[in-house]
Amino acid sequence: MSQTGPSTSSAPAQNESWKAGLRPPPKDLRPQTEDVTATKGLEFEDMFLRRELLMGIFEAGFEKPSPIQEEAIPIALTKRDVLARAKNGTGKTAAFVIPSLQQVDVNKNKIQALLLVPTRELALQTSQVCKTLGKHMGLQVMVTTGGTTLKDDILRLSETVHVLVGTPGRILDLAGKNVADLSECPVFVMDEADKLLSPEFAPVMEQLLSYLPTERQVMLFSATFPMIVKDFKDKHMKSPYEINLMDELTLRGVTQYYAYVEERQKVHCLNTLFSKLQINQSIIFCNSTNRVELLAKKVTELGYSCFYSHAKMLQSHRNRVFHDFRNGVCRNLVCSDLLTRGIDIQAVNVVINFDFPKNSETYLHRIGRSGRFGHLGLAINLVTYEDRFNLYRIEQELGTEIQPIPQTIDKGLYVAPSAPEEPAQKTNQQQQQQQQQQQQQQAQQLRQQGTTPQPRAPQQQQAQGQVVYQSNGQQPQPARQNGSAAPPRGQPAYRGAVPVAR
Ligand SMILES: Nc1ncnc2c1ncn2[C@@H]1O[C@H](COP(=O)(O)OP(=O)(O)OP(=O)(O)O)[C@@H](O)[C@H]1O
Ligand SMILES: [Mg+2]
Repeated sequence: MSQTGPSTSSAPAQNESWKAGLRPPPKDLRPQTEDVTATKGLEFEDMFLRRELLMGIFEAGFEKPSPIQEEAIPIALTKRDVLARAKNGTGKTAAFVIPSLQQVDVNKNKIQALLLVPTRELALQTSQVCKTLGKHMGLQVMVTTGGTTLKDDILRLSETVHVLVGTPGRILDLAGKNVADLSECPVFVMDEADKLLSPEFAPVMEQLLSYLPTERQVMLFSATFPMIVKDFKDKHMKSPYEINLMDELTLRGVTQYYAYVEERQKVHCLNTLFSKLQINQSIIFCNSTNRVELLAKKVTELGYSCFYSHAKMLQSHRNRVFHDFRNGVCRNLVCSDLLTRGIDIQAVNVVINFDFPKNSETYLHRIGRSGRFGHLGLAINLVTYEDRFNLYRIEQELGTEIQPIPQTIDKGLYVAPSAPEEPAQKTNQQQQQQQQQQQQQQAQQLRQQGTTPQPRAPQQQQAQGQVVYQSNGQQPQPARQNGSAAPPRGQPAYRGAVPVAR
């Protein structure tokens, strides 16, 4: 392991003055489940990380490693191959980013870590994690994905890049043109590895590996490892250290319900859910791009603001939607499976499968968009007659119970209890005003481009008094006239809370 940084931190006993100048975000006081709290008690400071890296970790607000970080980081630092499986939202990204960054020699003008992910949005998010954690290291992170100008990437690669994050196709393109030099890149990470080994990506992964040195460390991370991974493991990994933190498959903090509906009742059901639930932010999944657009239109007609995103949209537009949704400009996002994996938006407390997914991996990743880092969340599935076998099979495969939706859902299951007032509250109020302004601008711009943020008309809210979801033979219930998905204004600030205007 190269030690180019001025210092390596080993024990808390060392001079702690460096910590004093750090500016971590306000503490996240929401309750957390054992998915992230059941650790052995290892500290980041026990991991012999460079001080500059530790500074980035603490400034990101990470106080203690999560279970997967505790397991994976020390092993990864020994340069052994790692195959790690851990639940959604439990910190796998930092589990591979931290050891990758630790191994970078910033004085060497070479790509030294290649981090591959299956989608462009996830690439942007992961590169941001690298920048945040590596903030004090003076390292150069580059993100590259399809859908952007190749020429810009070529230009960028003429400058120093230490860590390259991206989607496989573009990176292969750059490596094949001898623009991205991977010949001295010792770290090769595949996040959402099972997806990257699916037939659409597998041949590219094989080719990419041929550009790396033979002495390399290969690390695979995901919450799901179907059999597909075995061939790759046998062929390309050297006695990998295997970690499996998934004794049970679903997240403890996420309560799952289904509503049994006919196809034509779905929009009405969604409307009722909007009026009844206390949504901080929601992601609504559809099974096709066409249905994403149709539903986004319907949601807008119902008077709720929403963004939408799918793979057939312009990349610049996709990026804007992703960025703005993450920043709380809009409360609801309708999307395809493009955003099923890895996307980390802490403010999302409700996931709705408007269309029920076909397989258990997709189901698991989708519902894992809520309940991030052990927090509470709700997953609601609209299930039709045709979906009934899938529902049963997915329950069996995941060993979980998806219950019929009750008439009222206890807010304690998915809404963070109020925490004491903190100075950060002020910031949030300022942000609130700023975001309202921003939303007005975005609404104008995005309406022209196909997204549909709109303020909710009060009279429409009153007109929604009839149906609701039907669940397990229960009679339809009248929607609450004043049921509200109102923003949690006045709620205390926690990292990721969004003061969104409707
Ligand atoms: N040690 C930590 N302390 C506090 N928060 C953390 C810690 N590690 C990660 N987080 C936060 O937890 C959230 C989820 O992390 P991450 O996206 O890495 O999960 P994941 O395991 O990759 O999930 P997925 O399977 O959905 O991709 C992020 O917001 C991240 O900042
Ligand atoms: Mg992830």
